[in-house]
Amino acid sequence: MADSGSASERREEGKKGREEEEEDDVVCLDPSFFVDRSYETTTFTFGSQVLHLLCLRAASTDYDLTGQLVWPGAVLMNTYLSEHPETVKDHSIIELGSGIIKKNIEMQSCSGNANAVLTAEKLEWGNYVHISNIIEKHPSGFDLILGADIYILLSYFATLLLSLITSMDVLVLKEAEKHGMHVKEVDGTRTTISNLEGVIYDITLK
Ligand SMILES: C[S@@+](CC[C@H](N)C(=O)[O-])C[C@H]1O[C@@H](n2cnc3c(N)ncnc32)[C@H](O)[C@@H]1O
Repeated sequence: MADSGSASERREEGKKGREEEEEDDVVCLDPSFFVDRSYETTTFTFGSQVLHLLCLRAASTDYDLTGQLVWPGAVLMNTYLSEHPETVKDHSIIELGSGIIKKNIEMQSCSGNANAVLTAEKLEWGNYVHISNIIEKHPSGFDLILGADIYILLSYFATLLLSLITSMDVLVLKEAEKHGMHVKEVDGTRTTISNLEGVIYDITLK
């Protein structure tokens, strides 16, 4: 009995020692370690509007960091808005999934060519805390909701979405119809930018 007791004590000590060594091997990395923040100032010209924005040239898609660069959808939308300024003039607007960073908001506010008050809020689709926070700050709502290239990024959806990506428009449009919205393709907006075909939809409540 005495022998087996000391053997189990030795085993226990060995296990403890190994656990301590493993703990010493653990390296704790701050989440920011995985985020590329090497933004470069890039100039975008939309009609008479010249925007200088800090953005990346490529985005990570394995985590939702896709908002770190300006996508062709945003180029299409901004080109359209610069040609049709009446769409946004004197309107209160929320842009979903803009991916804007604070520094870019500061840069537009300081540029002297922006009359609009620009702010950003966190909003994950369907997060009622985020939605309530926005409604509280903007109780009269918005005249216009903008969104460019804002497909849904939910991990359990990812595989399914990847296989459906080519019919993403169809999914979004069906969903809008289901929620009682009227969807109309804006004439003349079907365009190819960076080898990708894009189009603008005007979606209104029926
Ligand atoms: C492809 S980027 C487009 C960024 C910008 N609108 C543009 O066109 O350059 C997709 C944007 O949608 C946002 N997004 C996608 N799915 C989302 C979700 N489930 N909740 C919140 N934001 C989401 C991302 O964070 C990102 O800003």
